[in-house]
Amino acid sequence: MSRVFHRHPRESYPIAVRGEGAYLIDSDGRRYLDASGGAAVSCLGHSDSAVVKAIQAQLDALPFAHTSFFSNEPMEALADALVERAPAPLEKVYFVSGGSEAIEAALKLARQYFVEKGEPQRRYLIGRRQSYHGNTLGALAVGGNAWRRKQFEPLLVEATHVSPCYAYRGRQAGETDTAYGERLAAELEAEIRRLGADRVIAFVAETVAGATLGAVPPVTGYFKRVREVCDRHGILLILDEVMCGMGRCGPLYAFEREGIVPDLVTVAKGLGAGYQPIGATLVARHVYQAVVSGSGFFQHGHTYLGHAAACAGALAVQRRLHEDGLLAKVGPLGDLLERKLRAAFGNHPHVGEIRGRGLFWGVELVADRASKRPFDPSRRVHARIKKEALKAGLMCYPMGGTLDGVQGDHVLLAPPFIVEEAQLDELVAKLAGALDAVLLSKVAA
Ligand SMILES: Cc1ncc(COP(=O)(O)O)c(C=O)c1O
Repeated sequence: MSRVFHRHPRESYPIAVRGEGAYLIDSDGRRYLDASGGAAVSCLGHSDSAVVKAIQAQLDALPFAHTSFFSNEPMEALADALVERAPAPLEKVYFVSGGSEAIEAALKLARQYFVEKGEPQRRYLIGRRQSYHGNTLGALAVGGNAWRRKQFEPLLVEATHVSPCYAYRGRQAGETDTAYGERLAAELEAEIRRLGADRVIAFVAETVAGATLGAVPPVTGYFKRVREVCDRHGILLILDEVMCGMGRCGPLYAFEREGIVPDLVTVAKGLGAGYQPIGATLVARHVYQAVVSGSGFFQHGHTYLGHAAACAGALAVQRRLHEDGLLAKVGPLGDLLERKLRAAFGNHPHVGEIRGRGLFWGVELVADRASKRPFDPSRRVHARIKKEALKAGLMCYPMGGTLDGVQGDHVLLAPPFIVEEAQLDELVAKLAGALDAVLLSKVAA
């Protein structure tokens, strides 16, 4: 009997013992094609020897030196690597141990920025419904997933939520992308005015919405309008790229496609690629300068900030992306995956939409394509697909509550950047089998 407090204590889990490229292998020797990178983490697969060696070398030299006493070489080099590829004014990096910590740092830094500037009355955060920013209390507060928030509501800081940019369900009949983006920006502006523009700290959004909506890219122009609204009211724009950043959508930073630059951007998952737990918050010059020329101290911190072995692993990941050309593969591989998904599921009676960018794809499932009616949540379609897929040796990331935290189902796909064409075929074939086993069975609708 396991003494581990597992995620789902009533379930039993196979024991993963080895990784081999795009595959994980369990203690019974079963192989699983990792088509979701766990949760969009393992962008280099599971046996990248260059990353492993870099971590080993750092452990031999210096595993850890507390950042209240020392800086360390891999942390400095990793900050250089991230900032050199980030547009101005992003120019400083705060290193933490994961995505939720990166969001907490961003939220607290945004608040402190205004305190430093003599605007301590600013207290509200605005997020989007159906977003996910992590499970710590600040991240959960700004996140908009009703199901995840519900039982912790009394503990959450004040945050309000506007509509996500979710064209499949949110765009009205006959509405253009431009008009839809403008309507959403107007909704944000109305919310800012309702709260009082001088009382709002920041608007927080995932550039490409990940876990809770299922890889939904913004419509063209949406973030430009959002940036204008934030600027008009002096509010910070925080983009959460914990899942969609670090090349997952093609460019290193997903916002590069949107023609805007946020004031703060969070990254994690693909930053360490699963080889080490690490996250980071990139900070714009004006935010950093407000702290440096004000109190001189960001009142935050964790023991493992800038952990040397974690930074060495993440630095090796950056080298694999840029020097070994893996980042450049994401676009073409993503196009290939899209073609295969559309060929296999474009006419599937229960696939409502296939959407995504780069190697980040979502397949939204519906009971009825014409009306977009979701499956009855009591059927737990997403959970059954996950089980069927795993049985067939496929890791994908199905999730329920796509529409409102309760209704709707989607499957998230995030294969590694080293994936081969034959493995994409394996992915599609196994996913098709799992969908058919669950959705075409008599009880599904
Ligand atoms: C967009 C986004 N932000 C934040 C987080 C939280 O990251 P972590 O689980 O590393 O704390 C996640 C995790 O899935 C995420 O997808």
